[in-house]
Amino acid sequence: MVQKSTSRAAESTEPAPPPEPVALEDLAGVGATTAEKLRDAGFTDLMELAVASPGDVAEAAEIGTAVALKIIHEARRHADVGSFEPGTLLLERRKKLGRITTNAKSLDELLGGGVETAAISEFSGEFGTGKTQIAHQVAVDVQMPVDQGGLNGEVVYIDTESTFRPERIVDMAKALGIDPAQALERIHVARAFNSNHQMLLVTKAQELARERPVRLIVVDSLTAHFRAEYPGRGELAPRQQLLNKHLHELMKFGTTYNAAVLVTNQVTARPDILFGDPTRPIGGNIVAHAATYRVYLRKSKPPKRIARLIDSPNLPEGEAVFSLTTDGIRE
Ligand SMILES: Nc1ncnc2c1ncn2[C@@H]1O[C@H](COP(=O)(O)OP(=O)(O)O)[C@@H](O)[C@H]1O
Ligand SMILES: [Mg+2]
Repeated sequence: MVQKSTSRAAESTEPAPPPEPVALEDLAGVGATTAEKLRDAGFTDLMELAVASPGDVAEAAEIGTAVALKIIHEARRHADVGSFEPGTLLLERRKKLGRITTNAKSLDELLGGGVETAAISEFSGEFGTGKTQIAHQVAVDVQMPVDQGGLNGEVVYIDTESTFRPERIVDMAKALGIDPAQALERIHVARAFNSNHQMLLVTKAQELARERPVRLIVVDSLTAHFRAEYPGRGELAPRQQLLNKHLHELMKFGTTYNAAVLVTNQVTARPDILFGDPTRPIGGNIVAHAATYRVYLRKSKPPKRIARLIDSPNLPEGEAVFSLTTDGIRE
């Protein structure tokens, strides 16, 4: 305390105050090793750290929770957090959000103009309703220029059910006049063997996103591993906790890189059961809180599918009809 006020007094006689700390290393209690670990875990600047939970920081830097808390307080002191903002500024910020076309006008309209960046979009539905096809399609579309509904972006594709098919990407790319080889090159696919591995891959994705312009992360399926590994009722709490953490990390990825987060969720029952009882399809309540856009898919007269938007904060509920074709998703 005494030391601090002395240095403040000394500062006031200086012509210019010393610059505020900007790098993680500048924070009291953060050495080079800790800073490196934090960055690896995705805490790349003071703001990230300032709004993090002590548990996450402790785990990332392999330090105690008390130390983590101290570091977070330091970050808060130096980062510009906690001020209220006028709505106009928020509107400005929302204008920076990107939108990726699904290649079906009706579905885009349902989503308010396409799949939004810095948000989680969940596509749920029974087997064969087109969740994986949509994931493939958006992975191709994001690569297109902005005026064609893309973001000139690359893709991280976490495949948990071994249903990623490069052949489908080739078909879809060709149909849009995109070089198929290049399209495949820009989709970074990883097979997740279990839920732990799935979560680890999000951390790996952050490393990739620091070097490549990743604007979309797909997790197909978000819930299959969790469902398989924690089948019992008694395991519901730990499962939901892990899923919550996973979604939190995905959201962080989305906001850090202004990337869209597209997840799929297979359900086996009717939607009204799905959202009522959290013990039913995995992650019901947890996903409901985390996902900004929730689209429920159901089959119609082949090749048609019906998409319904559920619980959107800013869009009216509605339905869109689209088709699954060899060329991909179509109106
Ligand atoms: N090459 C293709 N040509 C036309 N339709 C296809 C092709 N591949 C898949 N589909 C359509 O996609 C459906 C499977 O959708 P998918 O996205 O895998 O479902 P899920 O919701 O289980 O992920 C098939 O039943 C078929 O209608
Ligand atoms: Mg699928």
